[in-house]
Amino acid sequence: MGKQGDIDFVKNLSNENRMHVINQPFSDHQCGRYFRDIGTILSLLPPPPAKLLDLGIGTGWTSCFYAMRGYDVTGQDISKDMISFANQNKIKYAVENLEFITSDYENMFFDNEYDCAVFHDSLHHSENEEAAILSVYKSLKKGGVLITAETAVGHANTPVSQESVKKYGVTERDMPVGLIVKAGKKAGFKDFKFYRRPVEPIEILSVFSFKGIVNFSKIILRELWFSNVMKTGHIVVMVK
Ligand SMILES: C[S@@+](CC[C@H](N)C(=O)[O-])C[C@H]1O[C@@H](n2cnc3c(N)ncnc32)[C@H](O)[C@@H]1O
Repeated sequence: MGKQGDIDFVKNLSNENRMHVINQPFSDHQCGRYFRDIGTILSLLPPPPAKLLDLGIGTGWTSCFYAMRGYDVTGQDISKDMISFANQNKIKYAVENLEFITSDYENMFFDNEYDCAVFHDSLHHSENEEAAILSVYKSLKKGGVLITAETAVGHANTPVSQESVKKYGVTERDMPVGLIVKAGKKAGFKDFKFYRRPVEPIEILSVFSFKGIVNFSKIILRELWFSNVMKTGHIVVMVK
């Protein structure tokens, strides 16, 4: 595992996998989930106009969506190849208020420039989450907001993650709420809030039958069970 694996990731992809990456989020079976994430993140961000720093963007589709919503976006990624895909997406979505840079989010040089910042599924690729979060802290203006959307504990041990590590040498770690908050507090962030990462739609009409009442009760109990909540992944919001 290491940064070089993330830098070289695109070069090592098969043609089929490269097309899958380029066409994200539409090519992915988790597409609906990604849209739910973006909807939730947009609800938690300060409203546009605002300057937004998007971290570890991959092909930059999130940056394009934020820009279309009206944010002035800087999208960054450690991989030059990902940034070149992101620039193609910028043309595809015809957005202007958006720039992309190749850089390491653990070592950025912005100083009090951004109103908000987002790690979407990217902080668990860090080698040092404290350096990454401190770097974002320095980039934000006073009162600026950082949002992290992260996978559930156990992510690093899933077969898909293990295969990525073995095949591409990328970094895959677990990024629990506790680790994020610890790094956030150390950097100087305050006012932490926690949200469950949005789940599949829950059908409620069936509550009007006996079976429905049983199902609905099970859902309520499941929702109240914290460890289950954490299995869906989480969103943390913190303020500088
Ligand atoms: C799982 S992808 C997520 C991409 C995108 N945020 C999304 O939701 O589709 C993780 C991304 O983080 C990037 N990354 C890993 N380490 C990084 C670092 N130190 N600095 C910047 N980007 C990094 C990788 O190159 C990769 O594109």
